[in-house]
Amino acid sequence: MTEPVLPPIGMLAELTHRCPLQCAYCSNPAELLKANREMDTQGWVSLFEQAADLGVLQVHLSGGEPTLRADLVDLIACLARRGVYTNLITAGVGIAEGRIESFAEAGLDHVQLSFQGAFAATTEKIGNARGAHEKKLETARRIRAAGLPLTINAPIHRHNMEEVPDFIDLALSLGAERLEIANVQYAGWALLNRNALMPQREAVERQVEVVEAAQERLRGIMTIDFVTPDYFAIYPKPCMGGWARDAFMVAPDGTVLPCHAAATIKTLHFERFGDWTLSRIWHESSAFNAFRGTDWMQEPCRSCERREIDWGGCRCQALAIAGDAAATDPACIKSPLHARMGALINEAAGASTSANGAETFTYRRIGRVTEPTA
Ligand code: SF4
Ligand code: FES
Repeated sequence: MTEPVLPPIGMLAELTHRCPLQCAYCSNPAELLKANREMDTQGWVSLFEQAADLGVLQVHLSGGEPTLRADLVDLIACLARRGVYTNLITAGVGIAEGRIESFAEAGLDHVQLSFQGAFAATTEKIGNARGAHEKKLETARRIRAAGLPLTINAPIHRHNMEEVPDFIDLALSLGAERLEIANVQYAGWALLNRNALMPQREAVERQVEVVEAAQERLRGIMTIDFVTPDYFAIYPKPCMGGWARDAFMVAPDGTVLPCHAAATIKTLHFERFGDWTLSRIWHESSAFNAFRGTDWMQEPCRSCERREIDWGGCRCQALAIAGDAAATDPACIKSPLHARMGALINEAAGASTSANGAETFTYRRIGRVTEPTA
């Protein structure tokens, strides 16, 4: 039976694709939008107003680097007026003096600051940006001085997995209340760079032990969230909490999408805010309805006891690896293609990588023409 569509709770607003860093693990689409394609201030304000009317309770302001939007204070103020919880997701590089304080005054609730490495050399190598680490440390201090709660986000892959204990020390030293050890998801630029980023199985196992011990040791001091690596799992994650279930995202040009990589599913058509209202997109868009609930599922998901736990996993990963967006996510042990995940891990281990990996990365850059492959 088809369930009624409930209102969304969360929204990820990718305000811009511009960014001072060029991280190879970025989940942004391979085809990045230039500044002249970005929605203007009025467009975002109108979208946020409609999101609040629709029931959205929290908005993650992301990018690219969202602080590159000159109107960010106004956008935060608009959301704060409507009582929407705001989380700023920033790389923390190049934020002008006084701006963090003005975000706080406008009503910002929380900041999530990414570190590409626990040490300067790693941060600079992964982000391809000299001096980035020092600037991030300074940004973290300013965030705390402005009285804002801080989460450190550590995107983990082959080139920084051994630094997990150091990430924990770093987050503690910066007064973070939360640390996200987030193993990279292979979408967008990360999919292009999969062979260069994929860790070894033994390193993943060591990482799990380190994280579990730290979670126990730091209980009540700092929360450590752990995003497990899909390729090493036996069950998939409920991507976005389930397709069009309680969250969505908006690209810089106002295209409303069920998830990060949805645009890779070329059989779907995505509406742009302004052409349709947000409520109409959420309820009526054929793309949002394509994989909502469980009616679309094939076997083994269709009759599986976990179908309302993980919602069949990630549709974009199913397309990238199984060639069918409606297939069971191959991360699942019940998928007939599950062995392909192990083969891709082995393929990455066999791929030629230099000692530091740098020259094997395809660094993220607007205008760079790229084609992800499965
Ligand atoms: Fe989830 Fe489908 Fe695997 Fe069941 S078969 S665990 S619903 S992905
Ligand atoms: Fe699209 Fe997972 S990224 S469903």
